[in-house]
Amino acid sequence: MKAVLCSSYGPPERLTLEEIAAPIAGEGEAIVEVYAASLNFPDGLQIQGKYQFQPPMPFTPGSEVGGVIKSIGPALKGFNVGDRVMATPGIGGLAEEVIVKETGLRKIPDSMDFRTAASFAMVYTTSYYALKQRAKLQTGETLLVLGASGGVGLTAVELGKLMGAKVIAAASSDEKLEFVKQLEPNEVINYGDGELKEKVKTLTNDQGADVIYDPVGGDLFDQCCRCINWNGRLLVIGFTSGRIPEYKANLALLKGSSMVGVFLGRFRKEEPTEYEKNFQELLEMYDQGKLKPLITESFPLEEYVAAFNVFTERKVMGKVTLEIKSE
Ligand SMILES: NC(=O)c1ccc[n+]([C@@H]2O[C@H](COP(=O)([O-])OP(=O)(O)OC[C@H]3O[C@@H](n4cnc5c(N)ncnc54)[C@H](OP(=O)(O)O)[C@@H]3O)[C@@H](O)[C@H]2O)c1
Repeated sequence: MKAVLCSSYGPPERLTLEEIAAPIAGEGEAIVEVYAASLNFPDGLQIQGKYQFQPPMPFTPGSEVGGVIKSIGPALKGFNVGDRVMATPGIGGLAEEVIVKETGLRKIPDSMDFRTAASFAMVYTTSYYALKQRAKLQTGETLLVLGASGGVGLTAVELGKLMGAKVIAAASSDEKLEFVKQLEPNEVINYGDGELKEKVKTLTNDQGADVIYDPVGGDLFDQCCRCINWNGRLLVIGFTSGRIPEYKANLALLKGSSMVGVFLGRFRKEEPTEYEKNFQELLEMYDQGKLKPLITESFPLEEYVAAFNVFTERKVMGKVTLEIKSE
């Protein structure tokens, strides 16, 4: 089968597309024939050796896919050959076939296409966990979302609105904000000039935001510590800016605010029942037409370099997918 391979760390141009042996399902596993795979920011870090979890070399990147179960290993329950699924294999997604454990498989409704299936799990489960369990976001609270046009950012805007918050979507360009306006945030902020704090204060009558969703870190995080409301919660999602910032204890004291860590992988491991409940609630929201994943760029598998470079060049607006087989 065809698969993208990372054999040495570096930019996307160092990846290769190879013919390799097809995988065989072990106990509790299935082989999924991949129709579509999506990329997330961490995939770009992983191929450069910069992510907190690095698979052994050589590896095929790609943590989530949509496809059809081709074969099943011993002791796999609840799934059959031919089932249409969304799958989170962790790695191996940029290939014609991938091994997926039972816990990483979910059947999808006929109404969901494979690109959507590949684009759903990571971003929605991260933002829902962040806003529901970690921030305990309340109706009427102000939610500021940084990197709002990116994968997780968009879902935070969408879910924040559904949860009844006043959402301020923030991004680095007017073009990105125009894109986010499809989700009807209450306000938008362009922080492309590096200014965030004063703009947030102006929009919140000097109070600051109650909840801040931050996948960016760096200088913007520093400003967030100064434009957060009394009892505010600053959600640490990631550090796409490249700098892990430091939280100033005096600002927490003065504002009665908290920095709240969000780590989806650990949540899934430590609280599997809650994770599963969240996932089912999200799928129900999708079925009810409340969630509309925005997939803007789709590349054929052969154009994997261009797909990765959407992330490395900070151009993401919505989800980026690779089409591996047509429906
Ligand atoms: N904590 C968790 O459990 C969890 C789960 C999933 C993802 N994450 C993390 O969340 C972050 C976002 O992931 P994603 O897949 O949503 O990424 P994405 O689609 O690339 O979006 C990231 C956003 O970050 C902003 N950004 C600021 N500086 C950047 C830079 N130097 N390069 C690239 N983007 C930059 C961009 O918006 P502007 O240009 O508008 O600033 C971009 O839209 C990553 O750090 C990822 O590891 C964490």
